[in-house]
Amino acid sequence: MVVFKRTHTCGELREQNVGQNVTLSGWVHRARDLGGLLFIDLRDRFGITQVVLDSAKNKELYELGQKLRAEFVISIKGEVFKRKDANPKLPTGQIEITANELHVLSKAEVPPFTVADDMTEANEELRLKYRYLDMRKGPILDNLVIRHKAMMATRQFMDSQGFVEVITPILSKSTPEGARDYLVPSRVNPGQFFALPQSPQMFKQILMIGGLDRYFQIATCFRDEDLRADRQPEFAQIDVEMSFATQDELFPIIENLVQSIFKHCKDVAVDAPFLRMSYADCMEHYGCDKPDLRFGMRLKRLDSQAQASSFTIFHDILANGGTVKGFTIKGGADISRKGIDEYTSFVGQLGVKGLAYIKLQDGTFSSSLAKFIAPEQQPEWQKALEMENGDLAFIIAGTTKKTNQALDHLRRRVAKDRKLIAANDYKFLWVTDFPLFTYNEEEGRLESEHHPFTSPHLDDIDLIEKEPLKARSSSYDLVLNGYEIASGSQRIHDSHLQDTIFRILGLNEEERKMRFGFFIEALQFGTPPHIGVALGFDRMIMILVETEGIRDVIAFPKTQKASCLMTGAPSEVATVQLKELKIATT
Ligand code: AMO
Repeated sequence: MVVFKRTHTCGELREQNVGQNVTLSGWVHRARDLGGLLFIDLRDRFGITQVVLDSAKNKELYELGQKLRAEFVISIKGEVFKRKDANPKLPTGQIEITANELHVLSKAEVPPFTVADDMTEANEELRLKYRYLDMRKGPILDNLVIRHKAMMATRQFMDSQGFVEVITPILSKSTPEGARDYLVPSRVNPGQFFALPQSPQMFKQILMIGGLDRYFQIATCFRDEDLRADRQPEFAQIDVEMSFATQDELFPIIENLVQSIFKHCKDVAVDAPFLRMSYADCMEHYGCDKPDLRFGMRLKRLDSQAQASSFTIFHDILANGGTVKGFTIKGGADISRKGIDEYTSFVGQLGVKGLAYIKLQDGTFSSSLAKFIAPEQQPEWQKALEMENGDLAFIIAGTTKKTNQALDHLRRRVAKDRKLIAANDYKFLWVTDFPLFTYNEEEGRLESEHHPFTSPHLDDIDLIEKEPLKARSSSYDLVLNGYEIASGSQRIHDSHLQDTIFRILGLNEEERKMRFGFFIEALQFGTPPHIGVALGFDRMIMILVETEGIRDVIAFPKTQKASCLMTGAPSEVATVQLKELKIATT
């Protein structure tokens, strides 16, 4: 019987182990034959250890070693020696093992990309198809370990605060979170479908109605929506709900949870309480609802200065209800003409016609805009834009929506280009008081900005029927470094108000009954006021490990087209299965 039980991992042995007899098992990372001496780099997830097969000491073993190929799984027994030529790049680089036993535990086909090669990246499709080989390269497994630590920290912290973890159904009814549902046909109820949960929203609220005052769950959610670098069709949330509580009780709990996760996973001390800013202020100062606060360049409104200038384009835009806004780049006067042209075409792609700029050098403005600004008006602009000598300001005029959008993108692009973002800097922000509704222009109807269970702001209840787009909600997002990592709200706990919101959203009585009847009924049986939030778990880990792709932190992610290249899912199914489900395909 081959013994492959390890005495140590491949990342463990050091100089103090010299002289010990050890057994290591792992993958052949590289093998180099120097004629009579064969060096094997043996790898597992903990590291690499050099193994030597010396033909002078054991010819048979050496010849067996010559047959090894990359990714064979082997087990070796041998003695630890101090290396003559230490490798300072490896933590185990002080030692090597002279093998006296070698067993091949498993052979390997030639892999489609070299696992040992860190320099060249295999194309992403190949890496997803052979996810298990990509895992062997390192970062994915490290990220999975961090994920695990974050889950442990979450469970420990939430438990310490009296929250009870409850698993809610996967085979369920549609929960509106703004995406399409993944549907599952029911065999025993032909023609009827379950919807996979976009979130456990209604279940967690019903748990509050049931009397559980503090719930959490690391919940898997499913959403059929357009995918982006920070979105997967199937992702995890730390889902939280509590009764008889308000924002002021919930926020510190979530802040402490995040502190605990960052401490456990990365030994980073996060400052709390987090900053808070209203949605309206965010849009005004950053042009978006998830501002990255790691760098300055706040947006400044320049409407009055633009009106006083002689630039007629500005006047026309303002007369049409538009706005003029800009931001200042410290020391930005060094941006060349070519650089400015590149930024102009960048905002052009976002649908903005022009990008104006001003440079302040030796106390005077220079730029195409300068001639429209009278010398006596210059101090006004300078003050509004907080400009000093050597600075450059970018200015955009247009509809408020487009101007904000373009300045937000431009601000982030400039920060990246000018390397204004420090590593390991985590800037959290609660964004509060979102609008209750938004208008879906394509479909010509109102939609919930968060979801339909969100309570209107108590000061704006009168607006919800009369001027719904002006009504604010009691909702909030948690933003980290420009990403929305959590979202939540005070919930509606009055069945009549809940029904009204569904009606304002355009659901007729029958639809309301069919989709949400059970929920509205539950609200009628004594519902405590309750509040909750859900943290995007994968997204938070993605930021924590400083990667820009959510796939890097998910063991088996889906592609942009929501498919799994490794298993080939989704795939066709046998006709007999469809028959049983009474589903016909065309
Ligand atoms: P929301 O839909 O905003 O709120 O989701 C909460 C958080 O989940 C993350 N998230 C995603 N992460 C990866 N891929 C996705 N496709 C994806 N979609 C969302 C985001 C987001 O902030 N039920 C409400 C929460 C509540 O009100 O309690 C909800 O699901 O980080």
